[in-house]
Amino acid sequence: MLNSGDSTYPVDQPRLHIKGGYSLAGEVRISGAKNSALVLMAGALLADDTCYLRNVPALADIGRMAEILQAIGVTVKEQSDGIEINAQDLNATNPPYALVSQLRASFFAIGPLLARLGVANVPLPGGCAIGARPVELHVRGLQALGAEVIIDHGVVQAYAPKLKGAKIYLDYPSVGATETLMMAATLADGETVIDNAAQEPEVVDLANFCIAMGAKIYGAGTNSITIVGVDRLHGTEYDIIPDRIEASTFLLAAAITHSEISLAPIIPGHLTAAIAKLEEIGAKIKLEGPQRLRIIPAETYSGSDIETLPYPGFPTDMQSLFMSLLAVSKGNSLVSETVFENRFGHVPELNRMGADIRVKGNHAVIRGVPFLSGAPVMGTDLRATAALVVAGLAAKGETIVHGLQHLDRGYEAIEIKLGQLGAKLERRGGVTQPVKC
Ligand code: EPU
Repeated sequence: MLNSGDSTYPVDQPRLHIKGGYSLAGEVRISGAKNSALVLMAGALLADDTCYLRNVPALADIGRMAEILQAIGVTVKEQSDGIEINAQDLNATNPPYALVSQLRASFFAIGPLLARLGVANVPLPGGCAIGARPVELHVRGLQALGAEVIIDHGVVQAYAPKLKGAKIYLDYPSVGATETLMMAATLADGETVIDNAAQEPEVVDLANFCIAMGAKIYGAGTNSITIVGVDRLHGTEYDIIPDRIEASTFLLAAAITHSEISLAPIIPGHLTAAIAKLEEIGAKIKLEGPQRLRIIPAETYSGSDIETLPYPGFPTDMQSLFMSLLAVSKGNSLVSETVFENRFGHVPELNRMGADIRVKGNHAVIRGVPFLSGAPVMGTDLRATAALVVAGLAAKGETIVHGLQHLDRGYEAIEIKLGQLGAKLERRGGVTQPVKC
């Protein structure tokens, strides 16, 4: 029997009780990508009629984004296989702080608002558990497109009766800045070139969605994106790509429990870094079809070094998940986090489970241990919490993962999906509360 918790952790809060050591088997369905869905919902503001997004994951963050769009006059309707967004009556330029403060991705509204209405007043999203997360690259890019921008009382106030195409060089290939500027440029006068652009699959998904709405965008997925402005964008139907981070979470869950499972749908090219690293550590990955793969585990894994980088480098979102596996792999590993300044929140919790990890600056030195032991642990952000779930599946005894308000932002029905694969886990406690990132 699973016990009821640990007195030092809040027992009235939602938590996952995981009984470790069970193998997984079968196939798991991968949901639509959270980080695509969020930005595509903002992108739908660019069209003056209905957009239909399919494969939208059922997540707390998606619900919050829908509330933010509704607050500025947009109709958002949940349908059986997606959501319908109509921004014909987009009328307010100021998404309210009370909502924006719950979801950083709401800042994406700034580009479409400026392009459609010529004015945007969007509260600064501020930092979150993983870092300060400034938005100066978004702001400088909008200024290059001809917007007047001031920051007053915590609100970014931008004004541009008509944006004008420009050549923009991003000091860093920021995913969010690339997306903001690409959206804004779709309705600008003339040509915009974004150099040192982010190349993440979610950027390409946004570009494809905008193209389906009538935008002219070339080069998304490379480091130079050209956008030729058009007068208007129309509604469209669009399928969101599968979530590569959710997929890698299940790959790691299988690897750490020495289980063979298959995953579908996935886009293999989006998982290149994860697949290469898993194979280096000892697992085998077999492509079973254009959108399906199978992981074949090893008996033991060997340590490896990881450095997070912008795409196509190793994704920061997978760093914590791999660390759980490296914690029980033979030998030493060095994990360097270069994208966010505070993304090691899982380390002290993994150490409570018996891992041997030391952090110095943005490096974590991991000495592999033979096994982890279950413990009550606290998730500090989305991917840190997911890493603790992965670790709990393999740990001896019971792990109680707290902090599910983070997990629920990014994983659709995770305990149901894991349960269907044979994991022994159960959610207990109240409903999760909003948390921003
Ligand atoms: N940065 C700046 N100035 C800017 C913009 C970014 O200094 O104006 C810095 C950030 O502070 C960070 C780095 O650049 O240190 C990378 O940030 P980026 O803008 O690329 O990330 P993001 O757009 O804020 C998205 C995802 C993140 C994911 C990163 C990196 C969404 C909603 N979020 O964030 O996802 O980790 O790209 O791939 O798309 C998550 O899903 O849990 C998550 C955090």
